[in-house]
Amino acid sequence: MSKLANLGVMAVSPTAISKAAGLLREGYLVAFPTETVYGLGADAQNEEAVKKLYEAKGRPVNHPVIVHLPSFENISEWCLDIPQEAWTLANAFWPGPLTLVLRRSEKAKDFITGGQDTVAIRVPSHPIALALLKEFGGGIVAPSANRFGKLSPTRAEHVANDFGEAIALVLDGGPCQVGIESTIVNLSGGKPEILRPGMITAEQIAQQLGMPGLDLAPSAKPTVHVPGDLPTHYAPETPLYVVAQEELHNLVKSSAGLKFAVLAFDDQPEILSAYRWLKASNNPKRYAEALYATLRSLDQAGADRILIEAVPTASEWQGIADRLQRATQK
Ligand code: TXA
Ligand code: MG
Repeated sequence: MSKLANLGVMAVSPTAISKAAGLLREGYLVAFPTETVYGLGADAQNEEAVKKLYEAKGRPVNHPVIVHLPSFENISEWCLDIPQEAWTLANAFWPGPLTLVLRRSEKAKDFITGGQDTVAIRVPSHPIALALLKEFGGGIVAPSANRFGKLSPTRAEHVANDFGEAIALVLDGGPCQVGIESTIVNLSGGKPEILRPGMITAEQIAQQLGMPGLDLAPSAKPTVHVPGDLPTHYAPETPLYVVAQEELHNLVKSSAGLKFAVLAFDDQPEILSAYRWLKASNNPKRYAEALYATLRSLDQAGADRILIEAVPTASEWQGIADRLQRATQK
């Protein structure tokens, strides 16, 4: 890569944004903050750049990426047969942590959709992401800026640690506020379905669609391909288990010489002495915001096992429960 293309981590300024947009136009990769997680961006219409993106991530080429757009009006360039539900959800939740899967137009090529006839679209709300999209003036594909199968990044240093010099520039926008990836809703078939839960809940979506209580679970046979469904995705190196409080206490008590790093809702009871004990927030928004950074620090604690106390089953916790499940030892 040329000298120009190794600028490392940069604090955000108007100059940094225009530098980033320029690099994207030249076909380089730029990492930037969104409200969910950091994304690794490439020009959605540049096949070479997208190829570089897949290589940098180590992502199989049939796994489609999300096109990020500056405004929801741009979706008609990228999608066909846009149903009313899409406009309703766009009005309610964009800019924000929602991704819509719709039928693709000519503009969405095979090299971003994995050859499927649908495309995933999102208008993020993070001011830096929006400023970059406006300055760039087109679609930016941005998977989470982690290597394939690893934990997603919610801080600029997570991205720098994962990729070193493989990417041109990381725009540092501080910690991401939502903390887990966007909710993905498929509107390309008959019935709306949630392909990936997130902090915009099934309840909120059903409500906006005017059908409270609507079942948004995907049909048994998914109509579209979601690689996030691979058994272990977002996994730390240390084996991780999600267990109920009582089992967690029993495991730590009878540790059999194993070092446990724990994330639980209460302080560590006096009778226990885990190797590391972190107290989690009872508020799902706070929990999600801290999740990936917490998993990274538990992973780096030098423990033999990570134990996470199971989270509640309510709708606001479903995105978190999903990410914990994916991080679990299979
Ligand atoms: O919050 C987010 O969505 C973040 C930030 C950076 O915007 N991005 C993100 O991208 O999570 P990625 O590539 O890590 O996850 C994209 C997900 C994958 O599970 C992929 O399968 C799904 O979107 N996806 C993309 N295009 C699709 C399509 N046409 N049909 C079904 N799923 C699709
Ligand atoms: Mg990802």
